[in-house]
Formats: sequence, C-alpha cells, structure tokens
Amino acid sequence: MARRKKIYEGKAKTLYEGPEPGTIVQYFKDDATAFNAEKHDVIEGKGVLNNILSEFFMLGLGQIGVPTHFLKRLNMREQLVRSCEIVPLEVIVRNYAAGSISKRLGIDEGTQLPRPIVEYCYKDDALGDPLVTEEHIAAFGWASQQDMDDILSLALRVNDFLSGMFLAVGIRLVDFKIEIGRIYDGDFQRLVVADEISPDSCRLWDINSGEKLDKDVFRRDLGSLTDAYSEVARRLGVMPNNPPAPGKPTLVN
Ligand code: TMP
Repeated sequence: MARRKKIYEGKAKTLYEGPEPGTIVQYFKDDATAFNAEKHDVIEGKGVLNNILSEFFMLGLGQIGVPTHFLKRLNMREQLVRSCEIVPLEVIVRNYAAGSISKRLGIDEGTQLPRPIVEYCYKDDALGDPLVTEEHIAAFGWASQQDMDDILSLALRVNDFLSGMFLAVGIRLVDFKIEIGRIYDGDFQRLVVADEISPDSCRLWDINSGEKLDKDVFRRDLGSLTDAYSEVARRLGVMPNNPPAPGKPTLVN
C-alpha cells in the first residue's frame, strides 16, 4: 500500500495530504500538552473524542451559515478538511475570566465579563504565542483590516452558537480559542473556521457544580481527562458507539 504524505505534525494532530487536491486528512492524536509542551502525556481515547466533538461543532456551525474547513469525518481518528492557509493568530473569546486573563489582570476566575472579550495571540511556539493587538496584526501584515472585521464577526458568531449549545446541556462556555484559515477561490479569498473545536481548546464548567470538563483537568492535574471529555460528548449526544475503554474486550453484536 502506498504511504501517504505527512504535511505537518503538531502537538495534538497530524496532517496528511488528502485524496484530492485542496484536501487534507486531519488525524487526532492522543497526545496532550500544556504550558507550551513543557507538560506532555498520552491519554488513550482523547483523539477519538476530539475528532467526534470537533465534527459535531463544525457541522453545527455550517448549518447556521458559519463557514468552516470541515468536509467529513473519515473514521474514529480522522477527518477530511479543506486545505487552507492558517492566519497566524489564536483567536480567543472569553465570557468569564479564567486562565491567563485572570493572572494578567488580577480578575478572580469565574467572574462574568461585562461582554465577550476577544483577544489575539501570535501563533509562534518559540515565543510562547504572545498576546498581540490589532496594531501589531496590521503593522506586520498578518491580516488586513477587512480580515480582522470578518474574524471578529466569525469569532462572535461561534461564541453565540457554542454558548447556547453548551448552556442547553448544563455547561458554561468560559472561553475558547479558534484558528482561522484562508481559502482561495480564483481571485477571491474566504475566511473559514479551521483547526479544531474541542475541550482541548475551550474552558467548560458544569453550571451547577463548577466541575471542569476541559483540558484544565490535565493542565491542573484534576482527574481523568477522558472522563471529562466523555461527559461532554455524552451530554451532547455524540458519544462514540465504542467509547475508548483501554484493555477491555469489546462485544460485537
Ligand atoms: P488562556 O487563558 O491560557 O489564555 O487560554 C484561553 C483559551 O484558549 C482556553 O480556552 C484554552 C485555549 N488555549 C488553546 O486552545 N491553546 C493554547 O495554546 C492556549 C494557551 C490556550
């Protein structure tokens, strides 16, 4: 069998050349990293859960008219996506204070923000993805003013969609990060939501108990990451048919 071509290996995903020009296969690994990969572990089943959850969110966004790179899920760990040029920004939307904004501005974790706050970080692991302003983005040409208007509007639409979806299953969307891709259509470019949307890139708290159901469970050693992600998948009704159960035999009906 021919070996497929690896395009890029990231911390949590590997990208392979897709079957048709303009497509990419996105493979979800079980690796979990935090603090710019200072902390690393392999958590069996995480990739399967993120693949299925990201498919669910991307399909839902498509249904409300938010463009994404998602084409279709191929199997438990892989999805076919449109190839795009990633804008070198992490776009973060915050509804409640947590994580770096709490540290930076001294706001207690869990404080509701007066309105959703959008932040941009320059995607550069060697620099630790530093926070940047629109001035930096314009001056260094990472995105145009028109792109930034579109990115802000996409980010807020994703926030409204995800917040409502999580609220319906008793989960508070504290914050999240998305990445944006450019797709060229002749002389035109379109911006789409790319990469993934999963509990790796969101903060999700149970509305009643405040229990964390996201990657902070790994970052802060709070228990089983797959239990947390499985709970999110279960509440959203997208739990995979054969949930990852390492070491256990599976009965086939
Ligand atoms: P922060 O509070 O650490 O800045 O994170 C804000 C949100 O962005 C949180 O939901 C986690 C997510 N995030 C990523 O997806 N990747 C990253 O590398 C970092 C630092 C945060």
